[in-house]
Amino acid sequence: MSLARQEAAARPLLEVRGVSVRFGALLALHRVSLEIGRGEIVAIIGPNGAGKTTLLNVISGFYHPYEGRIVFEGRDRTRLAPPTWRRSASPGPSRTSPCSRA
Ligand SMILES: Nc1ncnc2c1ncn2[C@@H]1O[C@H](COP(=O)(O)OP(=O)(O)O)[C@@H](O)[C@H]1O
Ligand SMILES: [Mg+2]
Repeated sequence: MSLARQEAAARPLLEVRGVSVRFGALLALHRVSLEIGRGEIVAIIGPNGAGKTTLLNVISGFYHPYEGRIVFEGRDRTRLAPPTWRRSASPGPSRTSPCSRA
């Protein structure tokens, strides 16, 4: 195995580093950090409103974090373009967009 491949295999697949998401005054995620390894199966648990869906939405790039970084396969995806359907004419149910620092 090449050195580059060995390094990639040793690194977590997904790194969430100090990610915060706010909706106006509401801080939905506050400096959340986690790592998920290749082949690892994890679950997010928490009461209603804890921020589970917001966490998935920020990992997928649907939301952009107010602070922190999302690293996938060693590449910074924090500013990953949101899916095109987010830019479609129909914004869906009346939910607000998260606030961004950038
Ligand atoms: N689009 C949004 N606009 C405003 N507030 C939101 C939005 N999405 C989630 N929230 C708020 O953020 C918090 C976390 O919500 P959510 O991620 O949906 O929690 P869970 O999925 O764990 O039930 C809640 O207080 C919720 O009301
Ligand atoms: Mg949810």
